[in-house]
Amino acid sequence: MRFTYVTLFPQLIEGYFQDSIMKRALQAGLFSFDFCDPRDYAANKHAKVDDTAAGGGAGMVMMSQPLFDVLAQFEDTTVIFPTPVGKPFTQNDAKRLARKKHIVFVSGRYEGIDERVIEHFADELFSIGDYVLTGGELPSLVMSDAIARNIDGVLGNRESLVTESFETYLLEAPSFTKPAVYEGMGTPSEFLKGNHSKITALKFALSTAKTQYFRPGQLIQHNKRTTYEK
Ligand code: ADE
Repeated sequence: MRFTYVTLFPQLIEGYFQDSIMKRALQAGLFSFDFCDPRDYAANKHAKVDDTAAGGGAGMVMMSQPLFDVLAQFEDTTVIFPTPVGKPFTQNDAKRLARKKHIVFVSGRYEGIDERVIEHFADELFSIGDYVLTGGELPSLVMSDAIARNIDGVLGNRESLVTESFETYLLEAPSFTKPAVYEGMGTPSEFLKGNHSKITALKFALSTAKTQYFRPGQLIQHNKRTTYEK
């Protein structure tokens, strides 16, 4: 898998891959990443990449020409535009996109990107939540992290992908580690006794309760799915 980030600010993204799981996965050759700076493609003297909005309005808009020239060079890619008006990015999208060969994330800055670029090149438009960020770099990183951890081998332990939140619509059960009591707060005693079927049953009950409390809609989805599967 290859990730390409089309961005005016590659340094905002680069640091994320210099530590921890992503660093190990890169070193193991499980994916690679590179950058394209639209400024390097600007066909004007001052390497200008933005201009005032047609029809007026506050802020500048990223121009078509540099982005057309950047994106025209790619073949056989999935081109993603992060935008607050995209469809909500989900775990299913992360899993589906983990099977792609090459994903190109196009980060807008300023007031956005000339719509003709999006019309011409976008395969998918995604929002990472109902709030507005100053650019597409953070959403691109969020999505690439969620995608990369679904690439075979990126997480050491396949088990952790199966049991985590959103795989079954249930939120993950709470986790504890040693000591068994900390600041007067205990660990559920079943977790300390080592009876695996009891632990599984308790985790399921805690997952269900947590989902009911924090994300009742997810519990409805879970119940629908398990009803159909019966
Ligand atoms: N760009 C700015 N805000 C965003 C958001 N919430 N999701 C995706 N891209 C964005």
